[in-house]
Order: sequence, then structure tokens, then C-alpha cells
Amino acid sequence: MENKVVVITGGSSGAGEALAYKFSKEGFDVVIGGTNLERLKKVQLNIKSIGTRCEYIVHDVSVEKDVKKMIELTIKSFGKLDVLICNAGISYRSVFEHANMEVFEKLFKINFFGSIYSVKHSIPYLIKSEGSIIAISSLNGFIATPTRSAYVSSKHALQGFFDSIRLELKNKNVNIMVASPGYFESNFRKNTLKSDGNKEGSTARDQKGMITSEHLADKIYEGYKNKKRDLIFTFRGKLAHLIKNWFPKLSDRLSYKEILNERESLLKDY
Ligand SMILES: NC(=O)c1ccc[n+]([C@@H]2O[C@H](COP(=O)([O-])OP(=O)(O)OC[C@H]3O[C@@H](n4cnc5c(N)ncnc54)[C@H](OP(=O)(O)O)[C@@H]3O)[C@@H](O)[C@H]2O)c1
Repeated sequence: MENKVVVITGGSSGAGEALAYKFSKEGFDVVIGGTNLERLKKVQLNIKSIGTRCEYIVHDVSVEKDVKKMIELTIKSFGKLDVLICNAGISYRSVFEHANMEVFEKLFKINFFGSIYSVKHSIPYLIKSEGSIIAISSLNGFIATPTRSAYVSSKHALQGFFDSIRLELKNKNVNIMVASPGYFESNFRKNTLKSDGNKEGSTARDQKGMITSEHLADKIYEGYKNKKRDLIFTFRGKLAHLIKNWFPKLSDRLSYKEILNERESLLKDY
């Protein structure tokens, strides 16, 4: 039987890389995008050794024509598209008063518009295959965190976008699942941008005890198979969701305290 085909933005690292291996192990041909050629090549090699086909594209997901090229590559290589995973994302740590608007916009273009462009250019193929879209959002898609207003608002915007198009695509049999993880192990925090727009390079948070990208990928695959609407991971994540909905002031206090207590917290001098 012909393999199914998955496209993963940000497939060169962390959750995207783990998802690429998981879907490959489940028999999917894989297309991945990212900015880092060496890492993309490494993931491609690993997938070939698992036994399915993999194509990659070095591109910037915040540029629409770059995203269009990724979908064109998919159709040219494999002739169809069954699953789109909107995963590429970065964070930016700054109190809003000191935030650089260019960096704020850059984040929005990657996190929000990167997903919008991916969906836009995939829709005809996903309707044809009656496929699935998986959005990698965050608990920050519905819970606010101080010093991360760019990230939080981009993920809230994504939540609204996917909730809207889910209704449009319902009768086309395209399933949309929004996965909202809390912290998990990856390079994400090292890649987080500082007020000046440079990468943090180290993490403001101890990764001990966080779930791994591989565990996350397994759960996302399970959710995809069961055509879930939303995925929230861990007891802590589910509790945070409940507190936010029923006790928003308590949620605010907990969120503020958590960021106040992180290493080199920007709230300490603000
Ligand atoms: N880690 C966490 O604790 C956590 C928690 C909740 C949600 N998330 C979400 O999970 C998703 C994946 O993050 P991760 O933790 O796996 O982080 P990661 O290891 O830093 O991976 C991020 C991926 O996004 C890609 N990317 C970044 N900018 C890009 C651009 N301009 N164009 C194309 N690709 C770009 C990166 O590719 P290159 O490296 O090749 O540029 C990389 O493959 C993100 O949407 C993030 O918001 C993460």
C-alpha cells in the first residue's frame, strides 16, 4: 500500500524532529522544513535508515513563497499530502515596555503567519486526501505568562485561527487537532530571543522532569489516530487549563509567581 505523506514545519529539531521519526516509523513519507541545513540532512538520513522517504527544504517559514515551495516539493516528490504539522516556532523574553517591535513582528511572522501560510497552500491537497492538520500550540495558547507577551499572543492567535477553520473544514472531513504542551525538553529555550533580538543561548529553566520530545511525539501521533480536537499533556497541564477557566485570578497569580521565580527573571527589576 502507498505510504501516507506528512509535512512538518520546523522538522530539524525538538518536537518536529521527534514527530518526523515517529511518523516515519508509522510508515509515512516525510517532508521537513527548517533553516539549518546540517540538521535537516541529519534528520533525512535518520529517516532513510528507518525505511521511509524524506525530503527537506531550507526555508524561512515566515516567508509565504518559501512555504509554498515546501508544499510544491511535497506534491512533486510524493503526489499528495495527508497530514500537515504546523510546528515551527520561537519565543521572545522581554517585558513589553522594553520589547523591540521588529523582534515582536519577527516572532509573529514565524509562529502565526508561518502556520497560516502552511495551511493556505496545503488546503486543496488536504481536502482531497480528507487529511489532518496538527497545530503545535502551547499552554500559552490560552494561559498568559508575563515577559512572553509576543509568544503568548501568537499562540492565542493560532488557537483562534484553528478553531475557526476547524468549523469551515468540518464538512470537508479535514480534522484539526491543536496540541498544547507545557514545557518539554528541546532547544527551544536556548533559541528564545532576548530583548535585543539575540538568542538566549542558555535556558532560564531546568529541563529536569520535563517530558521528552519523543514522548510528546508518541502522544501526538495517538491523538492524530483518534482524530482528537485538542491535546493537553500531563496532569499539571490539565490542572492549569482548569484553573484558568474557573479561577482566572488564581491563574494570574500562579503564572506571575512562576516567572518571578525563574532564573534571571526579568520581573525582578520591573
Ligand atoms: N519546548 C517547549 O517547552 C515548548 C512548550 C510548548 C510549546 N512549544 C512549541 O513547540 C514547537 C516546537 O518547538 P521545540 O520546543 O521543538 O523547539 P526547537 O527545538 O527550537 O525547534 C524549533 C523548530 O522551528 C524551526 N524554525 C524556527 N524558526 C524558523 C523559521 N524562521 N523558518 C523555518 N523554521 C524555523 C527550527 O528550525 P531551525 O533550527 O532549522 O531553524 C526548529 O526545527 C514550537 O511551536 C513551540 O512554540 C514548545
